[in-house]
Amino acid sequence: MNFKCVKKLDKSYDSYVMLTSAVDFKLPDSFDETVEKGFKELMKNEKSTPEKSKKFELNILDGDKVKNFSLIYLGDAEKFDAKNIREAIYSGIKDITGKTLIIPLDEKADNIDAVAEIVENINYTYDKYLTEKKEKFLEAAYFTKKKLPETIEGYELAKISNIVKDLINEQAEVMTPKELAHQAEKLGKKFGFEVEILDEKQAHKLGMDSYLSVARSAHHRPCVIVMRYKGNAKTEYTYGLVGKGLTYDTGGLSLKSSAGMMGMKEDMGGAATMIGAMCSIAAMKLDKNVTCVVAACENSIGPNAYRPGDIVKTMNGKTVEVTNTDAEGRLTLVDALTYIIREEKADEIIDAATLTGAVIAALGENITGLFTNNNEMAQKFIAASENWHEYFWQMPMYDFFKKNLKSEVADLQNTGAKYGGAVNAAKFLEQFVEDKKWIHLDIAGTVFAHTPTSYYKFGPTGEVFRTIYTYIKNNK
Ligand code: BES
Ligand code: MN
Ligand code: ZN
Repeated sequence: MNFKCVKKLDKSYDSYVMLTSAVDFKLPDSFDETVEKGFKELMKNEKSTPEKSKKFELNILDGDKVKNFSLIYLGDAEKFDAKNIREAIYSGIKDITGKTLIIPLDEKADNIDAVAEIVENINYTYDKYLTEKKEKFLEAAYFTKKKLPETIEGYELAKISNIVKDLINEQAEVMTPKELAHQAEKLGKKFGFEVEILDEKQAHKLGMDSYLSVARSAHHRPCVIVMRYKGNAKTEYTYGLVGKGLTYDTGGLSLKSSAGMMGMKEDMGGAATMIGAMCSIAAMKLDKNVTCVVAACENSIGPNAYRPGDIVKTMNGKTVEVTNTDAEGRLTLVDALTYIIREEKADEIIDAATLTGAVIAALGENITGLFTNNNEMAQKFIAASENWHEYFWQMPMYDFFKKNLKSEVADLQNTGAKYGGAVNAAKFLEQFVEDKKWIHLDIAGTVFAHTPTSYYKFGPTGEVFRTIYTYIKNNK
Protein backbone atom coordinates (compact mmCIF):
# COMPACT_ATOMS: atom_id res chain seq x y z
CA MET A 1 0.00 0.00 0.00
CA ASN A 2 1.46 3.31 -0.96
CA PHE A 3 0.81 6.34 1.12
CA LYS A 4 0.18 9.24 -1.22
CA CYS A 5 0.12 13.00 -0.96
CA VAL A 6 -2.28 15.05 -3.01
CA LYS A 7 -2.55 18.73 -3.67
CA LYS A 8 -6.10 18.63 -4.98
CA LEU A 9 -9.36 18.19 -3.11
CA ASP A 10 -11.94 16.32 -5.12
CA LYS A 11 -15.04 14.24 -4.67
CA SER A 12 -13.56 10.89 -5.58
CA TYR A 13 -13.06 9.62 -2.01
CA ASP A 14 -15.35 7.43 0.11
CA SER A 15 -14.27 9.08 3.34
CA TYR A 16 -12.82 12.39 4.40
CA VAL A 17 -11.00 12.76 7.70
CA MET A 18 -10.24 16.23 8.99
CA LEU A 19 -7.71 16.86 11.74
CA THR A 20 -7.98 19.97 13.86
CA SER A 21 -6.17 21.37 16.87
CA ALA A 22 -8.67 24.21 17.20
CA VAL A 23 -12.30 24.18 18.29
CA ASP A 24 -12.76 27.08 15.95
CA PHE A 25 -11.85 25.23 12.76
CA LYS A 26 -12.49 26.10 9.15
CA LEU A 27 -13.05 23.52 6.43
CA PRO A 28 -11.50 24.02 2.98
CA ASP A 29 -13.56 26.26 0.71
CA SER A 30 -14.38 23.56 -1.76
CA PHE A 31 -16.34 21.63 0.88
CA ASP A 32 -20.09 21.69 0.78
CA GLU A 33 -21.50 24.16 3.30
CA THR A 34 -23.68 21.50 4.91
CA VAL A 35 -20.58 19.64 6.10
CA GLU A 36 -19.12 22.61 7.93
CA LYS A 37 -22.50 23.50 9.37
CA GLY A 38 -23.05 19.93 10.50
CA PHE A 39 -19.74 19.78 12.34
CA LYS A 40 -20.28 23.19 13.96
CA GLU A 41 -23.64 21.94 15.17
CA LEU A 42 -22.10 18.76 16.61
CA MET A 43 -19.41 20.80 18.37
CA LYS A 44 -22.02 23.13 19.81
CA ASN A 45 -23.81 20.18 21.38
CA GLU A 46 -20.71 19.50 23.45
CA LYS A 47 -21.15 20.94 26.92
CA SER A 48 -17.58 22.16 27.15
CA THR A 49 -14.44 21.97 25.06
CA PRO A 50 -14.45 18.50 23.53
CA GLU A 51 -12.11 15.96 24.99
CA LYS A 52 -8.88 15.52 23.13
CA SER A 53 -9.10 12.84 20.45
CA LYS A 54 -12.86 13.28 20.19
CA LYS A 55 -14.18 12.22 16.80
CA PHE A 56 -17.26 13.76 15.19
CA GLU A 57 -18.89 11.97 12.30
CA LEU A 58 -21.31 12.86 9.54
CA ASN A 59 -22.66 10.60 6.84
CA ILE A 60 -23.91 12.58 3.89
CA LEU A 61 -25.68 11.34 0.80
CA ASP A 62 -23.85 12.45 -2.34
CA GLY A 63 -25.82 11.33 -5.40
CA ASP A 64 -26.43 7.65 -4.70
CA LYS A 65 -23.37 7.24 -2.45
CA VAL A 66 -23.06 7.81 1.27
CA LYS A 67 -19.87 9.68 2.08
CA ASN A 68 -18.32 9.59 5.46
CA PHE A 69 -16.91 12.76 6.98
CA SER A 70 -14.99 12.70 10.25
CA LEU A 71 -13.50 15.50 12.24
CA ILE A 72 -10.89 14.58 14.83
CA TYR A 73 -10.25 17.15 17.52
CA LEU A 74 -6.65 16.49 18.52
CA GLY A 75 -6.76 18.55 21.69
CA ASP A 76 -5.34 21.77 22.96
CA ALA A 77 -2.37 22.60 20.73
CA GLU A 78 -0.46 23.94 23.74
CA LYS A 79 -0.56 20.52 25.37
CA PHE A 80 0.10 18.41 22.28
CA ASP A 81 2.40 15.52 22.71
CA ALA A 82 3.56 13.16 20.02
CA LYS A 83 2.00 10.19 21.77
CA ASN A 84 -1.51 11.52 22.25
CA ILE A 85 -1.68 13.00 18.74
CA ARG A 86 -0.88 9.56 17.38
CA GLU A 87 -3.46 7.91 19.61
CA ALA A 88 -6.12 10.40 18.53
CA ILE A 89 -5.46 9.86 14.83
CA TYR A 90 -5.13 6.10 15.28
CA SER A 91 -8.45 5.72 17.08
CA GLY A 92 -10.08 8.06 14.56
CA ILE A 93 -9.05 6.16 11.44
CA LYS A 94 -8.40 2.57 12.51
CA ASP A 95 -11.83 1.31 11.42
CA ILE A 96 -12.01 3.16 8.12
CA THR A 97 -11.37 1.28 4.89
CA GLY A 98 -11.51 2.37 1.27
CA LYS A 99 -10.41 5.55 -0.45
CA THR A 100 -9.87 8.14 2.22
CA LEU A 101 -8.56 11.67 2.15
CA ILE A 102 -6.94 12.97 5.31
CA ILE A 103 -6.95 16.72 5.65
CA PRO A 104 -5.17 18.74 8.33
CA LEU A 105 -7.14 21.92 9.00
CA ASP A 106 -4.41 23.92 10.67
CA GLU A 107 -0.64 24.10 10.86
CA LYS A 108 -0.36 22.31 14.21
CA ALA A 109 -2.54 19.43 13.05
CA ASP A 110 -0.36 18.99 9.97
CA ASN A 111 2.01 16.12 10.71
CA ILE A 112 2.54 13.99 7.66
CA ASP A 113 5.15 11.79 9.35
CA ALA A 114 2.73 10.76 12.08
CA VAL A 115 -0.16 10.17 9.68
CA ALA A 116 1.96 8.05 7.33
CA GLU A 117 3.19 6.03 10.30
CA ILE A 118 -0.33 5.44 11.55
CA VAL A 119 -1.69 4.42 8.15
CA GLU A 120 1.13 1.87 7.75
CA ASN A 121 0.50 0.63 11.28
CA ILE A 122 -3.22 0.18 10.63
CA ASN A 123 -2.77 -1.53 7.29
CA TYR A 124 -0.23 -4.06 8.57
CA THR A 125 -1.52 -7.57 8.40
CA TYR A 126 0.10 -10.96 8.80
CA ASP A 127 -1.97 -13.24 6.63
CA LYS A 128 0.77 -15.42 5.18
CA TYR A 129 -0.77 -18.55 6.74
CA LEU A 130 -4.42 -17.56 6.35
CA THR A 131 -6.38 -19.00 3.47
CA GLU A 132 -8.54 -15.93 3.34
CA LYS A 133 -6.49 -12.81 2.92
CA LYS A 134 -7.48 -9.41 4.22
CA GLU A 135 -8.99 -7.47 1.36
CA LYS A 136 -10.09 -4.17 2.76
CA PHE A 137 -7.40 -1.62 3.45
CA LEU A 138 -7.32 2.01 4.32
CA GLU A 139 -6.29 3.60 1.04
CA ALA A 140 -5.19 6.89 2.45
CA ALA A 141 -4.12 10.06 0.70
CA TYR A 142 -2.90 13.10 2.57
CA PHE A 143 -3.85 16.58 1.52
CA THR A 144 -1.03 19.07 1.82
CA LYS A 145 0.14 22.15 0.01
CA LYS A 146 3.58 21.94 1.56
CA LYS A 147 6.64 21.00 -0.41
CA LEU A 148 7.56 17.53 0.77
CA PRO A 149 11.03 16.23 1.51
CA GLU A 150 12.35 13.52 -0.78
CA THR A 151 11.86 10.90 1.89
CA ILE A 152 9.28 11.19 4.64
CA GLU A 153 11.08 9.82 7.69
CA GLY A 154 7.89 8.73 9.46
CA TYR A 155 6.79 6.79 6.40
CA GLU A 156 10.16 5.13 5.77
CA LEU A 157 10.42 4.03 9.39
CA ALA A 158 6.83 2.79 9.46
CA LYS A 159 7.53 0.54 6.47
CA ILE A 160 10.61 -0.77 8.26
CA SER A 161 8.50 -1.33 11.37
CA ASN A 162 6.32 -3.65 9.34
CA ILE A 163 9.41 -5.58 8.23
CA VAL A 164 10.34 -5.96 11.91
CA LYS A 165 6.83 -7.25 12.64
CA ASP A 166 7.11 -9.79 9.80
CA LEU A 167 10.41 -11.12 11.18
CA ILE A 168 8.85 -11.56 14.62
CA ASN A 169 5.60 -13.02 13.36
CA GLU A 170 7.26 -15.79 11.38
CA GLN A 171 7.16 -19.17 13.09
CA ALA A 172 10.38 -20.56 14.54
CA GLU A 173 10.38 -23.54 12.20
CA VAL A 174 10.94 -21.09 9.35
CA MET A 175 12.71 -18.22 11.12
CA THR A 176 15.77 -20.26 12.08
CA PRO A 177 19.14 -18.62 12.83
CA LYS A 178 20.20 -19.20 9.20
CA GLU A 179 16.95 -17.75 7.88
CA LEU A 180 17.31 -14.70 10.13
CA ALA A 181 20.81 -14.27 8.68
CA HIS A 182 19.43 -14.65 5.17
CA GLN A 183 16.78 -11.98 5.88
CA ALA A 184 19.47 -9.66 7.24
CA GLU A 185 21.46 -10.17 4.03
CA LYS A 186 18.44 -9.36 1.90
CA LEU A 187 17.71 -6.22 3.91
CA GLY A 188 21.36 -5.22 3.79
CA LYS A 189 21.21 -5.29 -0.01
CA LYS A 190 17.93 -3.39 -0.06
CA PHE A 191 18.88 -0.63 2.36
CA GLY A 192 22.64 -0.49 1.97
CA PHE A 193 24.60 -2.15 4.75
CA GLU A 194 27.14 -4.95 4.70
CA VAL A 195 26.35 -8.33 6.23
CA GLU A 196 28.81 -11.00 7.31
CA ILE A 197 27.75 -14.37 8.68
CA LEU A 198 30.02 -16.30 11.03
CA ASP A 199 29.37 -20.01 11.34
CA GLU A 200 29.72 -22.18 14.43
CA LYS A 201 33.35 -22.99 13.75
CA GLN A 202 34.31 -19.34 13.51
CA ALA A 203 32.36 -18.55 16.68
CA HIS A 204 34.16 -21.38 18.45
CA LYS A 205 37.55 -20.08 17.31
CA LEU A 206 36.64 -16.70 18.75
CA GLY A 207 35.88 -18.36 22.09
CA MET A 208 32.15 -17.69 22.11
CA ASP A 209 31.52 -20.86 24.12
CA SER A 210 28.91 -19.41 26.43
CA TYR A 211 26.74 -18.63 23.39
CA LEU A 212 27.54 -21.94 21.72
CA SER A 213 26.54 -23.95 24.79
CA VAL A 214 23.03 -22.47 24.56
CA ALA A 215 22.94 -23.36 20.86
CA ARG A 216 24.33 -26.85 21.35
CA SER A 217 21.29 -29.12 21.35
CA ALA A 218 19.21 -27.50 18.64
CA HIS A 219 18.61 -29.08 15.26
CA HIS A 220 18.67 -25.61 13.68
CA ARG A 221 22.30 -24.54 13.89
CA PRO A 222 23.48 -21.17 15.17
CA CYS A 223 25.22 -18.35 13.34
CA VAL A 224 26.50 -14.90 14.24
CA ILE A 225 25.12 -12.12 12.08
CA VAL A 226 27.34 -9.05 11.74
CA MET A 227 25.92 -5.98 10.01
CA ARG A 228 28.03 -2.94 9.24
CA TYR A 229 26.97 0.48 8.05
CA LYS A 230 29.67 3.01 7.28
CA GLY A 231 28.17 6.45 6.86
CA ASN A 232 31.14 8.53 7.92
CA ALA A 233 34.64 7.96 6.61
CA LYS A 234 36.01 10.89 8.64
CA THR A 235 35.70 9.16 11.99
CA GLU A 236 36.33 5.75 13.47
CA TYR A 237 33.65 6.27 16.10
CA THR A 238 31.36 3.27 15.93
CA TYR A 239 27.98 2.72 17.52
CA GLY A 240 27.49 -0.90 18.50
CA LEU A 241 24.07 -2.54 18.48
CA VAL A 242 23.46 -6.00 19.90
CA GLY A 243 20.17 -7.87 19.57
CA LYS A 244 19.05 -11.04 21.36
CA GLY A 245 18.42 -13.55 18.60
CA LEU A 246 16.84 -16.62 20.19
CA THR A 247 14.74 -17.94 17.33
CA TYR A 248 13.02 -20.13 19.93
CA ASP A 249 13.33 -20.48 23.68
CA THR A 250 12.04 -23.72 25.17
CA GLY A 251 13.91 -22.91 28.38
CA GLY A 252 16.30 -25.77 27.67
CA LEU A 253 16.50 -28.52 30.33
CA SER A 254 15.08 -26.00 32.82
CA LEU A 255 12.07 -26.42 30.58
CA LYS A 256 9.34 -23.79 30.37
CA SER A 257 5.69 -24.66 31.00
CA SER A 258 3.42 -24.99 27.96
CA ALA A 259 1.88 -21.61 28.67
CA GLY A 260 5.27 -20.04 29.31
CA MET A 261 6.60 -21.38 26.02
CA MET A 262 3.88 -19.82 23.89
CA GLY A 263 5.27 -16.68 22.39
CA MET A 264 8.87 -17.81 22.53
CA LYS A 265 9.21 -17.52 18.76
CA GLU A 266 9.32 -13.81 19.62
CA ASP A 267 12.55 -14.29 21.53
CA MET A 268 14.44 -12.93 18.52
CA GLY A 269 12.57 -9.62 18.92
CA GLY A 270 15.75 -7.85 20.02
CA ALA A 271 17.50 -9.00 16.84
CA ALA A 272 14.53 -7.86 14.72
CA THR A 273 14.57 -4.50 16.51
CA MET A 274 18.25 -3.98 15.79
CA ILE A 275 17.85 -5.09 12.17
CA GLY A 276 15.10 -2.44 11.97
CA ALA A 277 17.51 0.14 13.39
CA MET A 278 20.14 -0.80 10.78
CA CYS A 279 17.59 -0.54 7.94
CA SER A 280 16.49 2.90 9.19
CA ILE A 281 20.01 4.23 9.61
CA ALA A 282 20.90 3.10 6.09
CA ALA A 283 17.58 4.22 4.55
CA MET A 284 18.00 7.71 5.98
CA LYS A 285 21.72 7.69 5.10
CA LEU A 286 22.89 8.86 8.53
CA ASP A 287 26.50 10.08 8.60
CA LYS A 288 27.39 7.62 11.35
CA ASN A 289 29.19 4.31 11.57
CA VAL A 290 27.07 1.60 13.09
CA THR A 291 27.77 -2.10 13.60
CA CYS A 292 25.20 -4.60 14.76
CA VAL A 293 25.78 -8.11 16.08
CA VAL A 294 23.24 -10.87 16.60
CA ALA A 295 24.43 -14.19 18.06
CA ALA A 296 21.47 -16.17 16.74
CA CYS A 297 20.49 -19.59 18.04
CA GLU A 298 17.71 -21.74 19.43
CA ASN A 299 17.45 -22.84 23.06
CA SER A 300 16.26 -26.41 22.68
CA ILE A 301 16.45 -29.70 24.55
CA GLY A 302 18.05 -33.01 23.61
CA PRO A 303 20.83 -35.40 24.56
CA ASN A 304 23.41 -32.77 23.76
CA ALA A 305 21.77 -29.98 25.75
CA TYR A 306 23.75 -27.88 28.22
CA ARG A 307 22.69 -28.51 31.80
CA PRO A 308 22.07 -26.71 35.05
CA GLY A 309 25.34 -27.07 36.91
CA ASP A 310 27.54 -26.79 33.82
CA ILE A 311 30.23 -24.14 33.88
CA VAL A 312 30.71 -22.26 30.62
CA LYS A 313 33.51 -20.01 29.53
CA THR A 314 32.65 -16.70 27.91
CA MET A 315 34.61 -15.03 25.12
CA ASN A 316 35.56 -12.39 27.68
CA GLY A 317 37.31 -15.06 29.76
CA LYS A 318 34.97 -15.06 32.75
CA THR A 319 33.41 -18.38 33.71
CA VAL A 320 29.69 -18.77 34.43
CA GLU A 321 27.88 -21.45 36.38
CA VAL A 322 24.62 -22.23 34.59
CA THR A 323 22.06 -22.34 37.37
CA ASN A 324 19.11 -22.17 34.98
CA THR A 325 19.23 -22.99 31.27
CA ASP A 326 16.25 -20.69 30.75
CA ALA A 327 18.41 -17.67 31.58
CA GLU A 328 19.99 -18.29 28.18
CA GLY A 329 19.65 -14.85 26.62
CA ARG A 330 22.35 -13.33 28.77
CA LEU A 331 24.73 -16.20 27.94
CA THR A 332 24.42 -15.41 24.24
CA LEU A 333 24.45 -11.63 24.71
CA VAL A 334 27.65 -11.45 26.71
CA ASP A 335 29.60 -13.13 23.93
CA ALA A 336 28.01 -10.79 21.39
CA LEU A 337 29.02 -7.85 23.62
CA THR A 338 32.61 -9.04 23.85
CA TYR A 339 32.69 -9.66 20.13
CA ILE A 340 31.40 -6.19 19.26
CA ILE A 341 33.87 -4.54 21.66
CA ARG A 342 36.97 -6.54 20.80
CA GLU A 343 36.49 -7.45 17.15
CA GLU A 344 34.34 -4.58 15.87
CA LYS A 345 35.80 -1.86 18.12
CA ALA A 346 32.42 -0.43 19.10
CA ASP A 347 32.76 2.75 21.16
CA GLU A 348 29.34 2.70 22.78
CA ILE A 349 26.72 0.01 22.87
CA ILE A 350 22.97 -0.43 22.93
CA ASP A 351 21.45 -3.88 23.28
CA ALA A 352 17.82 -4.92 22.94
CA ALA A 353 16.57 -8.21 24.32
CA THR A 354 13.41 -10.01 25.36
CA LEU A 355 15.39 -10.84 28.44
CA THR A 356 13.15 -11.29 31.47
CA GLY A 357 9.59 -11.94 32.51
CA ALA A 358 10.46 -9.79 35.52
CA VAL A 359 10.55 -6.61 33.43
CA ILE A 360 6.93 -7.29 32.44
CA ALA A 361 6.00 -7.68 36.11
CA ALA A 362 7.73 -4.37 36.83
CA LEU A 363 6.62 -2.19 33.91
CA GLY A 364 3.83 -3.97 32.06
CA GLU A 365 3.53 -4.38 28.31
CA ASN A 366 3.84 -0.76 27.23
CA ILE A 367 7.12 0.38 28.71
CA THR A 368 10.61 -0.83 27.87
CA GLY A 369 12.99 -1.20 30.81
CA LEU A 370 16.17 0.80 30.29
CA PHE A 371 19.36 -0.07 32.16
CA THR A 372 22.62 1.79 31.81
CA ASN A 373 26.06 2.46 33.21
CA ASN A 374 25.87 6.05 31.96
CA ASN A 375 23.07 8.40 33.00
CA GLU A 376 23.90 11.03 30.44
CA MET A 377 23.53 8.49 27.65
CA ALA A 378 20.21 7.36 29.15
CA GLN A 379 18.89 10.91 29.25
CA LYS A 380 19.80 11.51 25.63
CA PHE A 381 18.21 8.22 24.70
CA ILE A 382 14.96 8.94 26.50
CA ALA A 383 14.88 12.42 24.92
CA ALA A 384 15.18 10.71 21.52
CA SER A 385 12.04 8.69 22.29
CA GLU A 386 9.80 11.65 22.90
CA ASN A 387 8.68 12.27 19.34
CA TRP A 388 7.64 8.64 18.86
CA HIS A 389 5.00 6.47 20.40
CA GLU A 390 7.61 4.64 22.49
CA TYR A 391 7.98 4.54 26.27
CA PHE A 392 11.13 3.87 28.28
CA TRP A 393 11.80 3.86 31.99
CA GLN A 394 15.23 3.92 33.56
CA MET A 395 15.66 1.14 36.11
CA PRO A 396 18.05 1.12 39.09
CA MET A 397 21.49 -0.44 38.78
CA TYR A 398 22.76 -0.30 42.36
CA ASP A 399 25.90 -2.30 42.80
CA PHE A 400 24.46 -4.43 45.58
CA PHE A 401 22.55 -6.37 42.93
CA LYS A 402 25.91 -7.84 41.93
CA LYS A 403 25.96 -10.12 44.96
CA ASN A 404 23.00 -11.97 43.42
CA LEU A 405 25.32 -13.17 40.67
CA LYS A 406 27.83 -14.84 42.97
CA SER A 407 28.71 -18.47 42.44
CA GLU A 408 30.81 -20.81 44.59
CA VAL A 409 32.37 -22.56 41.62
CA ALA A 410 32.59 -19.97 38.85
CA ASP A 411 33.14 -16.22 38.46
CA LEU A 412 29.41 -15.67 38.07
CA GLN A 413 26.16 -17.58 37.95
CA ASN A 414 23.49 -16.80 35.38
CA THR A 415 20.19 -16.79 37.27
CA GLY A 416 20.43 -14.04 39.82
CA ALA A 417 17.99 -14.10 42.75
CA LYS A 418 14.29 -14.67 43.24
CA TYR A 419 13.39 -10.99 43.07
CA GLY A 420 14.53 -8.10 40.91
CA GLY A 421 15.09 -10.40 37.94
CA ALA A 422 15.28 -7.68 35.31
CA VAL A 423 18.02 -5.84 37.20
CA ASN A 424 19.92 -9.04 37.98
CA ALA A 425 19.99 -9.80 34.26
CA ALA A 426 21.14 -6.27 33.40
CA LYS A 427 23.80 -6.46 36.11
CA PHE A 428 25.02 -9.70 34.56
CA LEU A 429 25.39 -8.04 31.15
CA GLU A 430 27.15 -5.06 32.73
CA GLN A 431 30.04 -7.34 33.76
CA PHE A 432 30.87 -7.70 30.07
CA VAL A 433 30.72 -4.15 28.68
CA GLU A 434 34.28 -3.31 29.81
CA ASP A 435 34.71 0.48 29.84
CA LYS A 436 32.06 1.23 27.21
CA LYS A 437 29.00 3.45 27.58
CA TRP A 438 26.07 1.10 27.37
CA ILE A 439 22.30 0.91 27.43
CA HIS A 440 20.40 -2.34 27.80
CA LEU A 441 16.76 -2.39 26.71
CA ASP A 442 14.62 -5.19 28.11
CA ILE A 443 11.80 -5.41 25.57
CA ALA A 444 10.17 -8.62 26.86
CA GLY A 445 6.96 -6.65 27.54
CA THR A 446 6.93 -4.25 24.61
CA VAL A 447 7.83 -6.58 21.77
CA PHE A 448 4.30 -7.91 21.44
CA ALA A 449 0.86 -6.45 22.22
CA HIS A 450 -1.30 -9.23 23.65
CA THR A 451 -4.14 -6.88 24.41
CA PRO A 452 -4.79 -4.15 21.88
CA THR A 453 -3.73 -0.74 23.17
CA SER A 454 -4.51 2.83 22.20
CA TYR A 455 -1.94 2.38 19.46
CA TYR A 456 -1.39 -1.31 18.72
CA LYS A 457 -3.47 -4.20 17.53
CA PHE A 458 -2.75 -7.74 18.77
CA GLY A 459 0.69 -8.67 17.46
CA PRO A 460 4.28 -7.48 17.40
CA THR A 461 4.51 -3.74 18.03
CA GLY A 462 7.52 -3.14 15.75
CA GLU A 463 8.61 -0.35 18.08
CA VAL A 464 11.82 0.65 19.92
CA PHE A 465 14.09 0.75 16.87
CA ARG A 466 12.87 4.27 16.06
CA THR A 467 14.27 5.65 19.29
CA ILE A 468 17.58 3.86 18.70
CA TYR A 469 17.71 5.38 15.22
CA THR A 470 16.87 8.86 16.55
CA TYR A 471 19.39 8.62 19.38
CA ILE A 472 22.16 7.84 16.89
CA LYS A 473 20.96 10.47 14.44
CA ASN A 474 20.91 13.22 17.11
CA ASN A 475 24.21 12.28 18.72
CA LYS A 476 27.43 14.26 18.08
N1 BES B 1 12.93 -15.17 26.79
C1 BES B 1 12.74 -15.22 28.20
C2 BES B 1 12.14 -13.96 28.77
C3 BES B 1 10.70 -13.68 28.41
C4 BES B 1 9.69 -14.10 29.25
C5 BES B 1 10.36 -12.96 27.28
C6 BES B 1 8.39 -13.85 28.93
C7 BES B 1 9.07 -12.71 26.97
C8 BES B 1 8.06 -13.15 27.79
C9 BES B 1 14.08 -15.43 28.91
O1 BES B 1 14.99 -16.18 28.21
C10 BES B 1 13.80 -16.17 30.18
O2 BES B 1 13.35 -17.26 30.11
N2 BES B 1 14.07 -15.53 31.30
C11 BES B 1 13.85 -16.11 32.57
C12 BES B 1 15.05 -15.84 33.45
C13 BES B 1 15.07 -16.59 34.74
C14 BES B 1 15.22 -18.06 34.50
C15 BES B 1 16.21 -16.06 35.58
C16 BES B 1 12.58 -15.50 33.17
O3 BES B 1 12.34 -14.32 32.97
O4 BES B 1 11.84 -16.24 33.80
MN1 MN C 1 14.74 -18.27 28.57
ZN1 ZN D 1 14.83 -16.20 26.15
